[in-house]
Amino acid sequence: MKILITGGAGFIGSHLAEYFNENYEVFILDNLSTGHRSNVSFIDETHFIKNDITNKSLIQELINKEKFDIIIHLAAVVSVVETIDNPILSQKVNIDGTLNLLEANKQYNSNLKKFIFASSAAVYGNTELLPQKIESFIDPESPYAIEKYTGEQYTKLYNKLYGLPTTALRFFNIYGPRQDPSSPYSGVLSIMNSKFYHNESFTFFGDGKQTRDFVYIKDLVQAVSIVINCEESNGKIFNLGTGNQLSLLQMFEEFEKIYDKTIDYEFTEPRSGDIKYSYAQIEGLNKLGYNPKYSAQEGLKEYINYTNNA
Ligand SMILES: NC(=O)c1ccc[n+]([C@@H]2O[C@H](COP(=O)([O-])OP(=O)(O)OC[C@H]3O[C@@H](n4cnc5c(N)ncnc54)[C@H](O)[C@@H]3O)[C@@H](O)[C@H]2O)c1
Repeated sequence: MKILITGGAGFIGSHLAEYFNENYEVFILDNLSTGHRSNVSFIDETHFIKNDITNKSLIQELINKEKFDIIIHLAAVVSVVETIDNPILSQKVNIDGTLNLLEANKQYNSNLKKFIFASSAAVYGNTELLPQKIESFIDPESPYAIEKYTGEQYTKLYNKLYGLPTTALRFFNIYGPRQDPSSPYSGVLSIMNSKFYHNESFTFFGDGKQTRDFVYIKDLVQAVSIVINCEESNGKIFNLGTGNQLSLLQMFEEFEKIYDKTIDYEFTEPRSGDIKYSYAQIEGLNKLGYNPKYSAQEGLKEYINYTNNA
């Protein structure tokens, strides 16, 4: 069975590649804009395509040639700020790139068994109704959120109109090894971890009481592996969270316990557009057999252990 992971050299993609490499022939398509070749050194050159999902002819040729059984589409402009600065460029990648893949599969790949699209909890925006449900009001607050919403709707529509076996997953806050802490807009736990590791001061935007549904990467891998084998999920959209919310202050305390020390911290103005509270209703994936296994303590322990021994 052949599986293509777009954006496979990034944080989430590299974990999926590692997991599926056991039983599948894994191909990666990545332009290395935020990902790293070293994240997937176990993938040989013939299975690593350094290219861009906006390259329509390359996508057509690749899909036509390999006729993948499974496609996990993660490649995207992932920085919300970058999409605010340059929405025309980000829509080319996040919407047109997604359409390139869907269209090429429609035309050239009747062998396709599953196409997974990485959507985001960002589509909900600042809704006050919690937990966020698939049928909750959608209120995108950035080009990123609009592009993710458009991508997931196209993914769903290609099932309805053309029978493609597609599923979209709205990822909540995923964390784990290989998440890049280098930008101030990176996953907040990767920044917190880096500050603890280097004994530097951490800045809370706002009062630190904002909550998120933090998902350890291995729980995401579990969810994706369930969806891949589940025809029932075709044409559907699911939240991928844990169903629990924790505040940034609570996560900071967990870091203190695991590192057995504290670091300086300060509070500054909340960032505009940042949402206050967020957590997922995960009934949909639960019904398919998904059961998140990692508590915040367990996930963070494994993450910190890995990072500090890498
Ligand atoms: N990390 C999270 O908490 C989170 C939450 C919601 C949604 N997501 C989505 O999950 C997916 C993976 O995110 P991640 O956290 O692993 O980010 P990441 O930046 O580590 O991975 C993205 C990968 O896509 C590649 N890429 C970007 N543009 C490309 C293009 N035009 N052509 C080919 N490759 C390209 C990058 O080089 C990188 O390897 C993204 O679609 C992201 O929007 C992530």
